[in-house]
Amino acid sequence: MEPTAASCPDWLATHLHQAGGAVPFSRFMDLALNEPEHGYYGSGRARIGAQGDFVTSPSLGSDFAALLTPQILAWLTSISRSDPDQRLSIVEIGPGEGHLARDLVASLRGADPELLARIELVLVEANPGMRRRQQALLQEADDLRLRWCSLDALRRAPVHGVVIAHELLDALPVERLSWREGSLQQQWVELAPNGRLRTTHRPLPDGLQQRSGVCAAKAAFSCRPPMPKRGGPRSGTVHCPTGSLRRRLPWMPVCCW
Ligand SMILES: C[S@@+](CC[C@H](N)C(=O)[O-])C[C@H]1O[C@@H](n2cnc3c(N)ncnc32)[C@H](O)[C@@H]1O
Repeated sequence: MEPTAASCPDWLATHLHQAGGAVPFSRFMDLALNEPEHGYYGSGRARIGAQGDFVTSPSLGSDFAALLTPQILAWLTSISRSDPDQRLSIVEIGPGEGHLARDLVASLRGADPELLARIELVLVEANPGMRRRQQALLQEADDLRLRWCSLDALRRAPVHGVVIAHELLDALPVERLSWREGSLQQQWVELAPNGRLRTTHRPLPDGLQQRSGVCAAKAAFSCRPPMPKRGGPRSGTVHCPTGSLRRRLPWMPVCCW
């Protein structure tokens, strides 16, 4: 069991109680990140950038958008050639603070203002708190066609254009599996009697057993670790909150190999 730095906050304890005392790690990660009032992204408390909790390429300056611009322009121009009347969309999934969207628009405006006039920016943001931050950042671009929508809405009304997503996958809740006592087990997070969070392990439910087998086969790796650590379980890793992120989320268990 990994130690935790602080007691579980009341809101999270309530969710755990409602779930019967424990949840799979993926649900815990979902709550920690996306719970609308208290989650890191859900509440909009996340701060991305040099003065924030962590940095991403777009948060460090406009170079990343400038690098992407020629490729995005080439794709959009090629779509536009096959149907000159078609509205073009740039869809960004998981825009964070909105830095990349803002800088891409500026860069496209410089490179091809006529094409930009035909483009709409579609932001897919699951968390209302982060959406508010993006709205604040992008409100200056008032000549831009801009909207937020869900992936379901896009499925119902598909668009033509380019989809980008940067540093999104590691924000999606994952399961943690460990090899213990000769079998793969699923990690759960539970509330200990002392009010702290602790991890436990349970046999994989059928669906997960199947999915992990299929994923492993597709990716051509074995779920069984080649060299189990002597005397101890092997498990995957998730991001460890550090620095100011750790101070904001002191109750988050540190997970490591
Ligand atoms: C690490 S931040 C992305 C940072 C940003 N793309 C950048 O490069 O600076 C992850 C973002 O994805 C959002 N997000 C998390 N789960 C999502 C989902 N299922 N659909 C859409 N956005 C999601 C978060 O709210 C947050 O805005």
